[in-house]
Amino acid sequence: MAVKSLGYVVIQARDLGAWRDFAANVVGLMPAASERDDVVLFRMDDRPFRLWVEKGERDGFVAPGWEFADAAAYETALAALAAAGRPVERAGVMEARSRQVYDLARSSDPAGNAMELFYGRFVDYAPFVSPAGVSRFVTGANGDMGLGHVVLTAPNFAETHAFYKKVLGFSDTDLGRFYLMGGGTDDPGVGFAFLHCNGRHHSLALGEMPESPNGAVHMMLEVGALEDVGRAYDRVLKSKGKVPLSATLGRHVNDKMTSFYMQTPGGFDLEYGWNGLEIDPATWVPTTSLAVSDWGHKWAHEKDD
Ligand SMILES: [Fe+2]
Repeated sequence: MAVKSLGYVVIQARDLGAWRDFAANVVGLMPAASERDDVVLFRMDDRPFRLWVEKGERDGFVAPGWEFADAAAYETALAALAAAGRPVERAGVMEARSRQVYDLARSSDPAGNAMELFYGRFVDYAPFVSPAGVSRFVTGANGDMGLGHVVLTAPNFAETHAFYKKVLGFSDTDLGRFYLMGGGTDDPGVGFAFLHCNGRHHSLALGEMPESPNGAVHMMLEVGALEDVGRAYDRVLKSKGKVPLSATLGRHVNDKMTSFYMQTPGGFDLEYGWNGLEIDPATWVPTTSLAVSDWGHKWAHEKDD
């Protein structure tokens, strides 16, 4: 049975204070109560948390938490992972309880990206209030579209792409090939697969790239209004480089997201977007995109032209 949504993400940090400041004051997420001194939690809707940031030896993205609808779907997925030769480690009751889920397991994809799997929808009934005045974060009705998307690297691209479809039930939304070296005859391009598990254009993207030193290329959060993006952009510019801008404002061709990118304290990027495309998974025919953006998204590492 298929993954239902991107339920949460796990992040590791040497300095929890840096994440507290970034997540609340720049991103506008709501700090949530944590039972552990070495963990800070952030909400964006009625889930108890969407970002789990724990103190660790290094800074980086640790794992997406893939959500299943019920015990049957979850158990079927764990069996499929084991049958595919992937490690399956079941977490104990207390650990599942601390994640505020019914049941929790860990595995990895064939590229070595760690993942958590869970089911059990817990709700925090205290209203979501953004400390930075963000109108809302878009997670779909009842949170069905999940918290956003993650982009992971997969040097063994074909194998990893097939794994997510066959074992975890993802489907293709867009199969891109981006010619980042000019598109000449000596430029093989970089393969990208954008995959959905609900109406969000993609919850997961895979890039045919060497392993990321930060655990992920980027994650994306979607907000309710263009003004929310603009005000966040202002907060990043106002930080005077404390929060590095990774890419300017722009609009992606495939998911139509109007967004910019900033560097998190974890080294990976955060895409902050509005108005992403929603699809009907029952009728969607995958597209093939040969460009990333129809305007903007000038990357910090790009030379002026
Ligand atoms: Fe993205």
